[in-house]
Amino acid sequence: MMPKAAEMSLMGTIRERTSVRAYTAQKLDAEIVRDLLAAAVRAPTAMHAEPWAFVVVQDSEQMKRLSDRSKRYFLDELRQAELDRDGRVRDEFARPEFNLFYNAGTLILVCGPSASPLMLPDCWLAAENLMLAACARGLGTCVIGSAATGLNRPESKAELDIPADYSVVAPIIVGFPDGETEPTPRKAARVLAWH
Ligand SMILES: Cc1cc2nc3c(=O)[nH]c(=O)nc-3n(C[C@H](O)[C@H](O)[C@H](O)COP(=O)(O)O)c2cc1C
Repeated sequence: MMPKAAEMSLMGTIRERTSVRAYTAQKLDAEIVRDLLAAAVRAPTAMHAEPWAFVVVQDSEQMKRLSDRSKRYFLDELRQAELDRDGRVRDEFARPEFNLFYNAGTLILVCGPSASPLMLPDCWLAAENLMLAACARGLGTCVIGSAATGLNRPESKAELDIPADYSVVAPIIVGFPDGETEPTPRKAARVLAWH
């Protein structure tokens, strides 16, 4: 782990951040998790509402249970949305050993009050802050949107101590990368107009 003084520059971090899908079993220390949450809540927030709230999951059996449940709901969604015509994703997800959370040591759920009209952008901005802060420290992250429906089921929320009137917005895995992941390419920004 990089010492704080050696954290990457902001632009370096933005260029290096990429979704990491292979992790060692090592869990994050509480102090690191707290640093990441402190970075998350520095995000801009509409009307200064600071609507975000976080759940940290580090129990690997619980994560596997949540993964198995979420996979079932995600497979239904795939079928209904006809997003996976060749069945490639279905086949991958259907493997019993496939863990939606890629066996990362830590899962952080960015949550917000469901009824708040402005909480979604705030939670996503907090999520990006968290992922950049993690990347700057040499940690890997990945948003696991496919788990959102399963995590928002009443049985999951009860198990995770998420109040009924809160929703999981951004499930993010965080951990120590097992190997290197090259940043994925991007197209240049498309400028529609520049007046
Ligand atoms: C809203 C959202 C949901 C995502 N859900 C998943 C997911 O369920 N599983 C996964 O492996 N990656 C997921 N990703 C990661 C994207 O696949 C990834 O960001 C994209 O391919 C670009 O790659 P990069 O993050 O490495 O730049 C998600 C990303 C976003 C923003």
